Amino acid sequence: MEKYKFPQDFRWGTATSSYQIEGAYNQDGKGLSIWDTFTHSEGNIYNNDTGDQACDHYNRYKEDVKLMEKMGINSYRFSISWPRVLPNGRGEVNKKGLKFYKNLVDELLKANIEPVVTFYHWDLPQKLQDEGGWGNRDIVKYFVNYAELIFDELGDKVKTWITINEPFVVAFHGNSRGDHAPGIKNHKVALQVAHNLLVSHGEVVKKFRNKNLDGDIGISLNLTPTYSFTDKKEDVQAAKLLDEYINGWFLDPIFKGKYPDKLSNIYLKKYGKINKKKNDLELINQDIDFLGINYYSRALVKYNPELKFYGIETVKRKENDYTEMDWEIYPDGLYDLLININHNYTDIPIFITENGAAFDDKIINKKINDSKRIKYLYSHFKSAYKALQNGVPLKRYYVWSLMDNFEWAYGYSKRFGLIYIDYKTKKRFLKDSAYWYKKVIKNNSI
Ligand code: BGC
Repeated sequence: MEKYKFPQDFRWGTATSSYQIEGAYNQDGKGLSIWDTFTHSEGNIYNNDTGDQACDHYNRYKEDVKLMEKMGINSYRFSISWPRVLPNGRGEVNKKGLKFYKNLVDELLKANIEPVVTFYHWDLPQKLQDEGGWGNRDIVKYFVNYAELIFDELGDKVKTWITINEPFVVAFHGNSRGDHAPGIKNHKVALQVAHNLLVSHGEVVKKFRNKNLDGDIGISLNLTPTYSFTDKKEDVQAAKLLDEYINGWFLDPIFKGKYPDKLSNIYLKKYGKINKKKNDLELINQDIDFLGINYYSRALVKYNPELKFYGIETVKRKENDYTEMDWEIYPDGLYDLLININHNYTDIPIFITENGAAFDDKIINKKINDSKRIKYLYSHFKSAYKALQNGVPLKRYYVWSLMDNFEWAYGYSKRFGLIYIDYKTKKRFLKDSAYWYKKVIKNNSI
């Protein structure tokens, strides 16, 4: 096998999020989040699974940091549960909740692992949802106050910050499709949510700059490159529109200070104006230090006039491989995406803040042979390498995920981890991919 050596300062990490791993949903004064409410209501989640216990990381974080140390992980991306530190979303601070994150950061630093904090990975305090959640502009000030509390408490030790994880999913899965918490099905609300999320991102970046904190701040976007199935004009247009919907709706305001033209016009006609303030786009468009990209797959698009959403149909290529999520394995998409961002949007550093795959892992004699995951990661690392060779300033790579966890609407039925979790006993087992990744990190090459 050829050797691909990564730059000396390249960092390899793993990622998780609070609701997906912590459990302890009502321990030590934590307030409820919209995901507690959503999972506790029957019929929303596969098998009616909940994150009540999840991986019990809240009580086992020391063991988890040890495992990361064993794997030689350079950096760990996790999120803070807003209602764990502010049970009502604002006002009174839950000291025990805050202490958990301080302890986690200390433990990571002791193990020589750089902590990376995401402020929002979907577990909004239910109390704030009761007032309209992200659809209510007041949230901007509550989010900034929450972020400021965390800057003050952890800012001496944490040097990399991510404002929001995947605003697309928050807005459109949570508020238009309704298959995620809070389960609202209203596209106009979703558009307002998307805008308020971006404004909140901008205000937190501004706060970070005003406080003169040392470190870097960015955002993580789920980006899915779209390809048209044929060269036919209708297919090309459908692919372009899907690109505006998933990618452009967030990339354009952040890097160009405007929403994409075509879709903006369509939305305006259909839903009317959403609430914006005069300087919002300037605020959203301010400089960030890096762009976080979460990449899983691509979309192959065909025009089908019978379909509701502007005739956009995503099609499968039978001859290609798919993961357990039924997502096409398409490493070239990562390369194309990185080049596109670097050429058409920005030349700031890029971090892959998530990439990974779910497979049907089986534990046999305490061993998990997940060669498909190794193959998936290898091919994507290779695309990343190729992008680096072509001048993309890619600096870090975080595998999703450190461990199997609560996969949102799919509950525990999908396993993304490098570490296998036996959900009954909460025992952890390193999969073959974890041992393989350890070697990649050690050699800084594939
Ligand atoms: C999210 C993760 C999720 C993963 C796999 C991303 O959209 O940030 O929370 O588990 O994809 O679906």
